[in-house]
Amino acid sequence: MIVPVIMSGGVGSRLWPASRQSHPKPFLPVENGRSLLQNTFARAAALDGVKDIVTITALDSSFKTVAEFDAQGQGGIQKHLVLEPFGRDTAAAAAAATHYAAKQFGPDVILLFLAADHTIADEVSFSKAVGRAAGIAQKGRIVTFGIKPNAPETGYGYIEADGERVVRFVEKPDRGTAVEYLKDGRYLWNSGMFCFRADTMLDAMTTHCPDILKASATAVDKGRKDETTAGFLETILDADAFAEAPKTSIDYAIMEKTPNLSVVAADIGWSDVGTWASLSEQFPSNDQNNTVIGDGRILESENCFVSSEGRLIGLVGVRDLAVIDTRDATLVVSKDRSEDVKKLYEELRGED
Ligand code: GDD
Ligand code: MG
Repeated sequence: MIVPVIMSGGVGSRLWPASRQSHPKPFLPVENGRSLLQNTFARAAALDGVKDIVTITALDSSFKTVAEFDAQGQGGIQKHLVLEPFGRDTAAAAAAATHYAAKQFGPDVILLFLAADHTIADEVSFSKAVGRAAGIAQKGRIVTFGIKPNAPETGYGYIEADGERVVRFVEKPDRGTAVEYLKDGRYLWNSGMFCFRADTMLDAMTTHCPDILKASATAVDKGRKDETTAGFLETILDADAFAEAPKTSIDYAIMEKTPNLSVVAADIGWSDVGTWASLSEQFPSNDQNNTVIGDGRILESENCFVSSEGRLIGLVGVRDLAVIDTRDATLVVSKDRSEDVKKLYEELRGED
C-alpha cells in the first residue's frame, strides 16, 4: 500500500508578487489552466493502488485546498487534510504527516512525499520511478528522487550518487560549490520528493530531530479531528504543541544527516518552476524568446517575460527581464537575478 503525502504549505516567495502568504505558489495556475497543486494531486491519484491521499498545508489554505481537489474530481479517493495553524517548515510538516499516517494506516505503510510546487512532464517515467522507490523503501531505506542537473542552481539539494547509494546529501550549496558539483558529474539534484516506510522515517527522526518529532506528533495527537462536508478527514494540529517544533527543512534535519539514504535517478521532465526565469520556460515563446501572459506588447526586445493580471504592459529595447504585474504590486527583475526575489520578499514581509 502506498499513500501519497502532498506538502503544500510553502509560500514560494521567489515568485512574488504572484505568490505570497495569502496566495501561495501551489495555487498558481501553470499548465492547462490547472494549479501546481491540482496537477500534483492528479499525478498522485493516477499512481497504482492509491486509495488515500494526505495533504499537509496551512490552516488558512484549507478551503482553497478542498476547492481545488473538488474541481479535480477523483471521487474514489479518501482525502486527508492535516492543517497547520502556522508553518514550521518541512521537517515539522513531514513529522506530523508521518505520525498521522502511521496511526491511520499502520507503521509499515509506504509514504510518497510530494512537493506541490513543481511540474513533471513525463508521468509514465514518474510512475515507474515511484515503483522502483517503493521497492527500496520497503526494505527500510529513505529514498530520494534525483534529477540530472543542467545548471549550478543554489536553490536545490545536491545528492552525490554512486548508483542507488547516496554518498552524501548537501542542501542548497553556495554558488562555487554548485559549480563544482555540476562539473563533477556524480551529483544529482534532489527533486524534493521522498519515499519511505513511516516507521523508517519515525526512527530517523527519533535519532536526528527528536524535538521536532515530539512536538509534531503531540500536535497531531492533541489536534482537532473532523470530517468535513466534502468528506475530507481533517486534523487541525494543536497550536501549543506545534509551536514547540524547531523550524527547519526536512533536507537539513534528515536528508543531510541520515546514513540510510538511497536515490532513484528520475528522468521525468521535472521542473521546479521556482523562479520567474524557470516559470517563464513553461510557456511558449516567440522567435526573440519573449513570452507574454495577459496583456502586453514587446518591441525590439529579447528574452523577456511579461505577466499581467489586468494592465497593458509595454517593453521596448530591453533584454532578459521578467515583468510581473498584479493587482497591487509590480515586479521588474533581471531574469538572472530571479533567485533574489526571495530577499525582496523577506524585506517586504509584514506588508503582505
Ligand atoms: N505543509 C507545509 N508546511 N508545507 C511546506 C512548508 C510548511 O511549513 N514549507 C514548505 N512546504 C512545501 C512547499 O509548498 C513545497 O511544496 C515543498 O514543501 C518544498 O518546500 P520549499 O520551501 O519549496 O523547498 P525548496 O524548494 O526551498 O527546497 C526543496 O525542494 C527542492 C526542489 O524543488 C528541497 O527539498 C531541496 O532539496 C530540493 O532540491
Ligand atoms: Mg520549492
